[in-house]
Amino acid sequence: MDNTVLNKLTHGVYVVGVKKGGSFGGCVVDAVSQATMGDPSHLTLALSKVSCTNELIKKNKKLILSILPVDIDPFVIANFGFQSARDTSKWDNISYGVSNGMPYVSDSVGYIELKVAQTIEFESHTLFICAVVNTTMLNPSSESLVYAYYQRHLKESASNSFSNFKNGLPRSEKKVVWRCLICGHVYDGEIPFEELDDSWVCPICGVGKENFVKE
Ligand SMILES: Cc1cc2nc3c(=O)[nH]c(=O)nc-3n(C[C@H](O)[C@H](O)[C@H](O)COP(=O)(O)O)c2cc1C
Repeated sequence: MDNTVLNKLTHGVYVVGVKKGGSFGGCVVDAVSQATMGDPSHLTLALSKVSCTNELIKKNKKLILSILPVDIDPFVIANFGFQSARDTSKWDNISYGVSNGMPYVSDSVGYIELKVAQTIEFESHTLFICAVVNTTMLNPSSESLVYAYYQRHLKESASNSFSNFKNGLPRSEKKVVWRCLICGHVYDGEIPFEELDDSWVCPICGVGKENFVKE
């Protein structure tokens, strides 16, 4: 078996937001699927049984799923994915809003409020089957982050920003770059990317400027 093939499945990267007493918990998830489309629609999400978020969802029976955009600060992923809400107050480190008493990531594409309809227990994970109760679009022109893109382009920056954060250094020392969404090419020309002519195309795959994202 080559389990790295599983990293090639196309799914997104999300932040779960859930109440934790008088504050908030939550974590990064990618194991999310749409199960039904209708009134209501249903999504499934799989959460490790050892995560604090699993415990909190079981207690509250509701959560918010923020859809992360491709140009998300990698620290957001590290903050919610590399540490537990049992030890730290994750939401204090990023910009967020609150809807119906639950937190969402301000820089997300949009967010989905969910109510747990059923759970299925596996040995390691709980599969939550959730009904969609409310949806809000924040940035309709944003491209959603895909898990394979995270693995290839953001994982390392997420790790670096997290070590900086833990060591009390500015968490994002990396310079802003513009990356082609199609072939991954990073623009490194002398003219600032924003000032390139609209007719400029990617030197590797030939697509236009609109296919580049700022990281
Ligand atoms: C990109 C990424 C995707 C993840 N996807 C999942 C997932 O689908 N399910 C899960 O249980 N944990 C997933 N995790 C791990 C949790 O986010 C991580 O264990 C987190 O520290 C749990 O925090 P908590 O204890 O506050 O719930 C993912 C982490 C990353 C970085």
